Amino acid sequence: MPSAATSESLAHLDLDAEIQRLKKERNAVLLAHYYQDSEIQDFADFIGDSLQLAQAARDTEADVILFAGVHFMAETAKILNPERIVLVPDMAAGCSLADGCPADRFRAWKAKYPGSIVISYINCSAAVKAESDIICTSSNAKKIVESIPKEQQILFAPDKNLGRYLIKETGRDMVLWQGSCIVHETFSQRRLIELRMQHPEAKIIAHPECQEQLLDMADFIGSTAALLRYVENDNAQQFIVVTESGILHQMKKRAPNKELIAAPPEGNCACNECPFMRLNTPEKVYLALRDLEPRLEMDPELRERAKKPIDRMLELS
Ligand code: 13P
Ligand code: SF4
Repeated sequence: MPSAATSESLAHLDLDAEIQRLKKERNAVLLAHYYQDSEIQDFADFIGDSLQLAQAARDTEADVILFAGVHFMAETAKILNPERIVLVPDMAAGCSLADGCPADRFRAWKAKYPGSIVISYINCSAAVKAESDIICTSSNAKKIVESIPKEQQILFAPDKNLGRYLIKETGRDMVLWQGSCIVHETFSQRRLIELRMQHPEAKIIAHPECQEQLLDMADFIGSTAALLRYVENDNAQQFIVVTESGILHQMKKRAPNKELIAAPPEGNCACNECPFMRLNTPEKVYLALRDLEPRLEMDPELRERAKKPIDRMLELS
C-alpha cells in the first residue's frame, strides 16, 4: 500500500514554510541526526549525535518531539519523555544493529554469562535496553566501560566493531555480541588505501562502527559529533571521512574552507548512505507534523525497565 507521502501530491506546497508554521502551531521541536538528508537537517531545531539527541529529548519543553532519525532514537526520546507526543516520519526507519539483536536471543546469550554486567550500545531496541545494566553511545562508551569495576565481567552488545575498539582502548576483556552496521561495514580498506595515496596530506577520520582494519588506518576515531568537532578544530586542510555521508553537510557548513572526501564503499553504490535514516523525507516530516502521526507508543512497563539503564548512562555523561 503506498504511504500517505507517496499517494498525496505535495508539490504545490512550500514545505519549508509549512514545516516552520506547523512546528509553531504544534509547539513541536524537530530533532535530527547528522545522517539525515541535508534538507531535513536544515529544517531542524537541533542536530546531534545519539547522546546529544537523547539529552535534547530529555530536556525539551515542547509538546511534540519530531524525531528525524531512526526508530531506536525516537524510542529513547519516548522513554525519557513519556508524556510528550513523539513522531517518527517513517516508522520503518530501523537499524541493522538493532534488528540483528532480537530480545529473545539476547536474553539467551546473557543467560550464558551469569553475574556479568551488560553494556548495550544505544543502537538496540527498548526490549534489549530493558535487559541491560547500562547503555552507552559512541561518544561516552569508553567512559562507561571504564566505570565498571576491573574484576567485573562485561558483556557488550550489539556492535562487535565498537566492542573490539573499546577492548583495545580500555584493555578490558569483554564478551561481544556479533552484530554490525551495514553502512559502516561497506567501507573498503583497499579503496581507503588508494585514497590515502592520492591525498597523502589528508587526515583519515572514522566512526568506531567501522571494521578494525579501517580503524587502524584512522588518525581520529569518534562519534558523529566528535568527528565534526575534529574537522572544525584540527589544522589539517583535507579529511577523508569514513562514516555515513550525511555528516558532510554540517562539516561543510562549519568548516567551509576545508576539503572533505567521503570514503567510498567497495562497489559503485550509495552504500555510505544509511537506507534507514534516508527513509525520512521532507514530505514525511511535513505529514507527520500535520497529522501528528505516526506516533511512537510504548508499553509503560517496558518503558520503565528500559529507562533505568539509560538514566545510568545520562548520569555518567
Ligand atoms: P552517533 O552516536 O555517533 O551519532 O552514531 C549513531 C549511529 O547510528 C552511527 O551509525
Ligand atoms: Fe544503524 Fe548503521 Fe544506520 Fe547507524 S548507520 S542507524 S548503525 S544502520
